[in-house]
Amino acid sequence: MPSLPVLLLGLLPASVCAHSFIWSVYVNGEDQGSFKGIRVPAYNGGFGKGGYNNSPVKNLTHIDMRCNVMGDIPAPDTIKVSPGDNLTFEWHHNKRNNSDDVIDKSHRGPSLVYISPDPPTDDSFVKLWHEGLYETSEFPLPGKWSTTDNIAKNTGNMNVRIPAGLKAGYYLIRAEMIALHEGEVSLLDNPIRGAQFYPNCVQIEVVGDGDVELPKGVGFPGAYQFGEPGIVHNVYCSTQSWASTATECPRTYPIPGPTVWSGAWPETTSVSRGPRVGHLGHAPWSTWIVSSVVTSVAYTDQEDMTTLGTSTYEATWSSTYQTPAPGTKRW
Ligand SMILES: *[C@@H]1O[C@H](CO)[C@@H](O)[C@H](O)[C@H]1NC(C)=O
Ligand SMILES: *[C@@H]1O[C@H](CO)[C@@H](O)[C@H](O)[C@H]1NC(C)=O
Ligand SMILES: *[C@@H]1O[C@H](CO)[C@@H](O)[C@H](O)[C@H]1NC(C)=O
Repeated sequence: MPSLPVLLLGLLPASVCAHSFIWSVYVNGEDQGSFKGIRVPAYNGGFGKGGYNNSPVKNLTHIDMRCNVMGDIPAPDTIKVSPGDNLTFEWHHNKRNNSDDVIDKSHRGPSLVYISPDPPTDDSFVKLWHEGLYETSEFPLPGKWSTTDNIAKNTGNMNVRIPAGLKAGYYLIRAEMIALHEGEVSLLDNPIRGAQFYPNCVQIEVVGDGDVELPKGVGFPGAYQFGEPGIVHNVYCSTQSWASTATECPRTYPIPGPTVWSGAWPETTSVSRGPRVGHLGHAPWSTWIVSSVVTSVAYTDQEDMTTLGTSTYEATWSSTYQTPAPGTKRW
C-alpha cells in the first residue's frame, strides 16, 4: 500500500488513531474467545487506514447510536450467561494485548453499560452501571475519568454483573465509552467537534428460571440530547489547573442517560481474567465488508486513496428476534 507523504500524515486529526471497541467477553473470568457474540462496529466514514472498526458516532439522533455502524446485523454467536455472572468486556484500540493503549489518553469521559431485550425498542435500554469523573479533588484540581483512568489503565476491562433473577431470554448489552476531548461544544454548533460515542453491543442469552423483567428504559437514539451538560462539557476543567477561567468551568459532571436501575448490582466485580482465547489481531473492516456483508458503505481509505463504496449504510432493526446466522463474521 502506498503511503501518504509524511507531511500530509501530520495534518490528519488526532482522532485517526485513538479509538476503541470490545474484542472479547469474559464470563466469570473465562474468555469466550475473540469477537464472540460481539457486533463489531463497521467503519463509519472519515479517515481510516485499511478500515478501522472504531470511528466515533457523533450524531445523537442517528440509529448508529444504538449499536454502532451495522449494529442491526447479528454476530454469528451468542454468549450464554446466568443471573449473577460477572462479565468483563475487554476493550482495545489496535491489538488485543496488554501493550495496547485501549483508548487514546486524550479521550477522557464516562463509561456506561445498558441492557435491553433483543431486539430493542424505543424505550428498552436499562442502565446497569456507569462511571464518570471520580476521585475529584477540590475544584479546579484534576480528577480521574472512567475511560482513561479506569478502563484504559486496567487493560481494557469493563465489568458488569448480570442482574439477579433476570428472566431467561435473549438480550443485548450496550456498553459505551464517551470521549469528551472535543465536547466543549455541541456537534450542532460545530460539525467538526462535539462529544464522541463508542457504543458496542454484545449478544447474550440469559438462562435459568429467573422471573425478573426489565423495567421500561430509554431508547438509542433518544436517550441523550445535544447540548445537555453531560454531553457538552469542558473536560479540561478537571484535568488541569484552570484558575484563570475557573468561572467558566462546570463544578460537577453529570453522567448522561438515566439513573442506574435499582435491580442492577450496586457494585461491579473485577474478576481476574483467565488466558486469552482466539486471535489477537483483527482483519481490517474493508476485507469483511466488501466480501461478506454489503458493499455499499461510504469508505475512502486515506492511505491508498481507494473508494470502496459510495453510499451510507442505514441500519434497519427488525421488531422480532433475529437468529444469528453463520457467515456474518466481522474480523
Ligand atoms: C443526524 O441523523 C439524522 C437521522 O439520520 C439526520 O436526519 C441528521 O441530518 C443528522 N444530523 C447531522 C448533524 O448529521
Ligand atoms: C461475581 O462476583 C461476586 C463478588 O465478587 C461473587 O460473590 C460472585 O460469586 C461472582 N459470581 C459468580 C457466578 O462467580
Ligand atoms: C503486543 O503486540 C505487539 C504487535 O502486535 C507486539 O509487538 C508486542 O510485543 C505485544 N506485547 C505483548 C505484551 O504481548
